[in-house]
Amino acid sequence: MIEFESFPRITISHTPTPLEKAPRLSDDLGCNVYIKRDDCTGLAGGGNKTRKLEYLLADAKVQGADTLVTIGGLQSNHARQTAAAAAKFGFNCELILQDVIGTPEKDYKTNGNILLDHLFGAKIHRLSADEDCEIYAATLMNQLQCEGKTPYLIPIGGSNEIGSLGYIRCANELLGQIKAQDIHIDQIILATGSAGTQAGLLAGLIAAKSHISVLGINVSRPAQEQTELVESLLKNILRSLNLDQNLANGRVFTNGSYYGEGYGVATKEMVAAVKKCAELEGLLLDPVYSGKAMAGFIDLCQTKHIKASSNQVFLHTGGSVGLFAYREVFY
Ligand SMILES: Cc1ncc(COP(=O)(O)O)c(C=O)c1O
Repeated sequence: MIEFESFPRITISHTPTPLEKAPRLSDDLGCNVYIKRDDCTGLAGGGNKTRKLEYLLADAKVQGADTLVTIGGLQSNHARQTAAAAAKFGFNCELILQDVIGTPEKDYKTNGNILLDHLFGAKIHRLSADEDCEIYAATLMNQLQCEGKTPYLIPIGGSNEIGSLGYIRCANELLGQIKAQDIHIDQIILATGSAGTQAGLLAGLIAAKSHISVLGINVSRPAQEQTELVESLLKNILRSLNLDQNLANGRVFTNGSYYGEGYGVATKEMVAAVKKCAELEGLLLDPVYSGKAMAGFIDLCQTKHIKASSNQVFLHTGGSVGLFAYREVFY
């Protein structure tokens, strides 16, 4: 196990999050489904970013920052949770939010996450779909420094070696729960985007010498690109922890068959998956990440790529606030 206490961390999350059996979904899919409830991490509706922000805000504090800057799509869960964390710990917050083509007409620009961003008092910079967010962020960082502020740039999705520490912590927590519940887990399935959740989780499993396989269902890019993104971050994390980078070899699996026309664009399989989990388990997924990941999971079960009676953990990364931006696709 890696010694976590040596990394600065502030406590925000409500952890450990439960590892729950989903009996009705299990019957429906023909395998044993356990849900790791990282939608219940707390902080403004919860989700995977809470764990990353514990380390990112600690680092921002160490660096004497007074302003958090981050980037995301207009309905970014990461931006919403960053804005909430900034409010809680007394940072200013500047969000660079980009329009996403192919998303709903009615509520996407005003409801869901963006409604909450405003409530948390974040300053919002709206960019069109063709503007370059990274260039905009660099200019904004300069401008804030010229104004005498000390800005701290959190990368998209909070996905770097620091943010990913949150998912090493989650891996240890999950392994402890698997042991305590005396279950054997064949696979962990999750939504993968900016890659920090999958890479951090894998780093934690590798460090703990666990061979449980992890399958990322991609929300924005084809399999090869996403696999390379996760693998490259995983290697950087392993290096930063003085672990052998070769331990990443053969550990990263992603599936690019379920994101449809693009990031944030609804698919009918996502809608069906969100409805299935709501109706069978009273469980809320989201339209952009966990809904598409669950759609992939369901399909892989139905096409027998996932073995009947196997034990699967679905890592629920949160995001249900986004449902309110997608009202028109659900009815
Ligand atoms: C709800 C939700 N699930 C999954 C992800 C993907 O996590 P990552 O960006 O670490 O791959 C995100 C990222 O924003 C998210 O908001």
